[in-house]
Amino acid sequence: MSRLRSSRFYDSYGQVALVRNGHMQALGFSAGLLRSGKPVIGIANSQSDLNPCNAHLGTLAEAVKRGVWQAGGVPLVFPTISLGETNMLPTTMMFRNLMSMDVEEMLRASPIDGVVLLAGCDKTTPAMLMGAASVDLPTIMVTGGPMLAGRFKGRSLGTGTDARKMADEVRAGRLDGAEFFAMESSYARTAGHCMVMGTASTMASIAEALGMQLPGSSSIPAVEAARLQAAQQAGARAVELVREELSMSRIVTRSAFENAIKVNAAISGSTNAVLHLLALAGRLDVPLELDDFDRWMRDVPWLANLRPAGEHYMEEFHHAGGLPALMRRLEAHLVGDALTVTGRSVADNVAAAECYDDEVIRPVDRPLGVGAGTAVLHGNLAPQGAIIKQAAASPRLSRHRGPALVFDTIEECEARIHDPDLDVDENTVLVVRNCGPLGYPGMPEVANLPIPRKLLERGIDDMVRVSDARMSGTAYGTVVLHVAPEASADGPLALVRTGDMIALDVPARSLVLEVDDAELARRNAERTPRASRFSRGYARLYADHVLQADRGADFDFLVGGSGSQPYGGDPH
Ligand code: FES
Ligand code: MG
Repeated sequence: MSRLRSSRFYDSYGQVALVRNGHMQALGFSAGLLRSGKPVIGIANSQSDLNPCNAHLGTLAEAVKRGVWQAGGVPLVFPTISLGETNMLPTTMMFRNLMSMDVEEMLRASPIDGVVLLAGCDKTTPAMLMGAASVDLPTIMVTGGPMLAGRFKGRSLGTGTDARKMADEVRAGRLDGAEFFAMESSYARTAGHCMVMGTASTMASIAEALGMQLPGSSSIPAVEAARLQAAQQAGARAVELVREELSMSRIVTRSAFENAIKVNAAISGSTNAVLHLLALAGRLDVPLELDDFDRWMRDVPWLANLRPAGEHYMEEFHHAGGLPALMRRLEAHLVGDALTVTGRSVADNVAAAECYDDEVIRPVDRPLGVGAGTAVLHGNLAPQGAIIKQAAASPRLSRHRGPALVFDTIEECEARIHDPDLDVDENTVLVVRNCGPLGYPGMPEVANLPIPRKLLERGIDDMVRVSDARMSGTAYGTVVLHVAPEASADGPLALVRTGDMIALDVPARSLVLEVDDAELARRNAERTPRASRFSRGYARLYADHVLQADRGADFDFLVGGSGSQPYGGDPH
């Protein structure tokens, strides 16, 4: 092992070293501890009362610390900002890059040799991976684990997925107020992140599939002792990663992305993963494009039978064998020799994995579907691409041509969509725009626009919808999302008018606005570009620098890494 990064801070005998070592002794550390050549392991903790999904991470941090001490390192826990999906406006996505900057700069500026990332709720996992990638220390992730499934009157409840259903039942008079409150109290039953295969479980699984999380650990329920044991192991492993000089960029390679993207198809994971993986690849200078997702997901069997697309919950997935069992079944599709945080390959990690429930993790010859992953669409309406989650879409609408009904904002859509006089039928293509990274701002999860009530009453439960927004990992429908460039960045989506014909052809991967170029050019010349709404602060930084969905909505100046060397000198 070469000289520890932290020794630069502690390992001398002048005034500065005295101050640094002396102050650390205020933590109760014994004299000389930080001069003893022990790797210092930062534990980046996104625990916050503003983020209930991450509120238990302090307990995990204690377990990680035990592992670090056990392996001969020195653990130092530090807080990061935390993005609570249920508690932030306009959307947590607007702040993912901010959190990544917090993580990146704390790691680079501090006396840290290796890091354990503690995350859980949707954006906290990608934000931590992105920030750590731009520093590229030896890094391991521990996600907080899923909640146990909610229980109400003998049935189970899934966070996110069942919320709309509950509200609908009250509106329809099938539940009274008291029952609604009882249900609300049963819904998020334990500590942990959402326990369906929404974005949080998707990103935790992806962290494991990338090789950044110990095999089998991503699905352990938040409240099980096994999670604390895995966290302790991760702490011990972090110390070894420093000794082995195994930095993050050696693990998160193009092969790792291929594995993660294929696993995302096999778990029918959230479309949000597309954005986060593109952004993460950008930080590591790994070439990755939207079209790679389409190509890699095409033949992958969908094996994990989990809500919202399937039937079960993360705890059942875990006890069926979790990701190692799934990845072993998927082995023919994966890059087996990709290196992971264990120091071994993916193939070695899963070689002995067994599946204990073929209904929860289907065998490859009895999948829930094939090629049901994310399709990437191109055409004059989405020159830089758009995506559709096929597992969530209706096969009968995969080839569809119909007139557009355009809403300029999501608020306008909500105000008008159920109007009985609205000119809409089952062939209409619903369009909502100005909901992209710049537009809203922060790309809210509104792409699955509601179906007009008058059509619902006629039994129409799905329609083609097109937008520059995102969609929740727990949502459904024939929804074309992440249209790039977005309307607010002068994409052609801004030029669509109600009545224009739109042709969607998922098998041909195309999305076409049937309006000729001359007419589009004329409409474009008539447009008055919207002025930026923000004069200062983070919102201004965001608006000036956010990239489009096909680049993962990262900031232009954050693409790439700056290594672990602090920026300047060391004033004495
Ligand atoms: Fe935090 Fe779902 S709201 S994980
Ligand atoms: Mg979500």
